[in-house]
Amino acid sequence: MSYEAYLAISREGLLEKMAEQMSTKRLEHSLGVEAAAIQLAKRYGADEIKAGLAGLLHDYAKEVSDEDFLALIDKYQLDSDLKNWGNNIWHGVVGIYKIKEDLGLSDAEILHSIETHTVGSKEMSLLDKIIYVADYIEDGRDFPGVGEAREIAATSLDRAVAYETARTVAFLAQKAQPIYPQTIETYNAYISYLK
Ligand SMILES: [Fe+2]
Ligand SMILES: [Fe+2]
Repeated sequence: MSYEAYLAISREGLLEKMAEQMSTKRLEHSLGVEAAAIQLAKRYGADEIKAGLAGLLHDYAKEVSDEDFLALIDKYQLDSDLKNWGNNIWHGVVGIYKIKEDLGLSDAEILHSIETHTVGSKEMSLLDKIIYVADYIEDGRDFPGVGEAREIAATSLDRAVAYETARTVAFLAQKAQPIYPQTIETYNAYISYLK
């Protein structure tokens, strides 16, 4: 896969850069999401290069410090409510600013799919859905329900988005964790696909 239509560096160069800022485990997960995203793009007729690159980069900012994320929220004058959340929300929603700064990536569709990969949105593009689902079902994932999620993803991307979001909301509620408003919007927009 060549990503040089979108990046000034080669895929190999990008992998080296990623290895400097994330654990081996996370790099492996990133490669798994790249592969899963390419497969879903083939299955559903999306651009495989965009899907692969978005998959590879989706967790690029996952190991950025809280301090750096708070500085980015100020620098780009993002919604100040973001400061009430944490890394789980920031690494996508704020992470795209780190990706733009570090890599000069400017493709709006790729950036939007990375921005929404954890929280989804009420109107997801095909690429958004592919990255959201690929992150959940890549080969390295092993949790109760992943097999069912993979089966659903092979037949309906909308249903896979609904399944994943319902599981996420239930998981957070069970652990008495707050749920990001955009996640609830995703839930409400997609849950009917599970019926
Ligand atoms: Fe992530
Ligand atoms: Fe991820």
